[in-house]
Amino acid sequence: EIDYFFPKQQTLAIIKPDSMDEHREEILGEIRAGGFSISRLKETVLSRDTAEEFYREHRDKPFFSQLVDFMCSGPCMLLVLTKENAVEEWRSMMGPTDPGLAQVTAPGSLRARFALDILHNSLHGSSNQEHAKEKIHFLFGDIITSDRDLTSNGELD
Ligand code: TYD
Repeated sequence: EIDYFFPKQQTLAIIKPDSMDEHREEILGEIRAGGFSISRLKETVLSRDTAEEFYREHRDKPFFSQLVDFMCSGPCMLLVLTKENAVEEWRSMMGPTDPGLAQVTAPGSLRARFALDILHNSLHGSSNQEHAKEKIHFLFGDIITSDRDLTSNGELD
C-alpha cells in the first residue's frame, strides 16, 4: 500500500570504464547503502554504435568523439536503480559532472571521491525520468516490472 502513495522510480546508472577495476565494489556498496534496489545489472563493453546512440543528445558537442571513445574503451556496468525519487537521488549521490567542482561543492559525492576528470568521471545517471525510461529501454529492452508500472501511474510522471 505504501508503494501506492510513494511510487518508486527507476533511473539508469552506469559505472564507466575508468571506475570498473578499482571502485566498482565500493560504488555498488554505496548504491545499496543509499537504499536503492538494483533491479537490473549488466556488465558489457559498449559498441561504438551503442555509445554514439546512447549519447546522441551530445553529438554536436566538441567532446563527443572523446566521450564515445572512452565509453567503448573497456567494460561498463549498466544498472537500473529503483527507489522513491531515484533520478534526483542518484544524481545527487554522483555529484557534479566535473570532479574538480565536485570536490569543492560536494566532497562526499562519488565523483568527488573516484573520478579523474570531467571526461573520465566514473559514473552516469539519467538527468530526468523521460531520459531514464528511454535509455533503460534502449540498453535493456522491454522490461515490465511492478516498480515500473507503479512509476507510470505515479504523480511524478
Ligand atoms: P553531461 O550530460 O553534461 O553530464 P552528466 O554526465 O553529469 O549528465 O555530459 C555527458 C558526459 O560527457 C559527461 O558525463 C562527461 C562528458 N563531458 C565531457 O567530457 N566534457 C564536458 O565538458 C562535459 C560537459 C561533459
